[in-house]
Amino acid sequence: MPLELYRDKNHACLMFTDLIEEDGQAVQANQFLIVDNGTGAIIDPGGNLAYNELFMGMTQHFPPHKLSYIIASHADPDIIASLDRWLSSTQAMLVISRVWERFVPHFTKVGKTDKRVIGVPDGGGRLPLGSHELWLIPAHFMHSEGNFHFYDPVSRILFTGDLGVSMMSGAQARQPVTSLKPHIPLMEGFHRRYMVSNKILRLWVNMVRPMDIAMLVPQHGAPIVGKQAVNEFFDWVENLMCGIDLFDDRAYQLPVASIDPVSRQTRAPLRAVNAQAS
Ligand SMILES: [Fe+2]
Ligand SMILES: [Fe+2]
Repeated sequence: MPLELYRDKNHACLMFTDLIEEDGQAVQANQFLIVDNGTGAIIDPGGNLAYNELFMGMTQHFPPHKLSYIIASHADPDIIASLDRWLSSTQAMLVISRVWERFVPHFTKVGKTDKRVIGVPDGGGRLPLGSHELWLIPAHFMHSEGNFHFYDPVSRILFTGDLGVSMMSGAQARQPVTSLKPHIPLMEGFHRRYMVSNKILRLWVNMVRPMDIAMLVPQHGAPIVGKQAVNEFFDWVENLMCGIDLFDDRAYQLPVASIDPVSRQTRAPLRAVNAQAS
């Protein structure tokens, strides 16, 4: 069952949290359906692992063949690797950054993306959806080079893709976060490695802080709900050092560790500076 993030008589936002089998190989991921006055869009539908379940699951809420848009925050496999199947089974247009417009045809059979892609310029834009508009908000380098967040002014939800994600099960992802502090350990490691730099995070916070946001909904893990938790997230993320802030010459050394293809593990070499390694 999807989680209903918002519903009124003309508008609904649904979140699917548990379509991928939890065997530890694929990271938990959320997929979204937005319906406004009989027009539907899916956001970040995911890869082939999620396709069948999402198609079946959404059928109960909206006829997939009537989908108008497949909206992708960026071009990662967990976002849009199922593109070939969605373009085959629906008439929907793919909406994605221009940065990725000529790369996504690699996900599909030849010719399938012909006249089916809306390439979004770096500045973003407002996309008609039913009788309202979905805002495509610049979120480049968080983490992808061509990346958008999606703001729905009806529900006041900001869909933040890989920003604000937390590592947890699909069942846990259904529990809204209303106080940030206990949630930070589930977000911190991911953001330090996947977000590009503190400069980008600060620019993003400056842009979104004045907005009227009821919840931040990431593509992995739980929604961050309510003014207090949303502001706590802004305060946390604008002070976070991450990505290239944390990389120096130690990260760019020619490798000496050998990889065992059978155990699929790397034996760390003895190094004078790290005598514990064996
Ligand atoms: Fe990603
Ligand atoms: Fe992701």
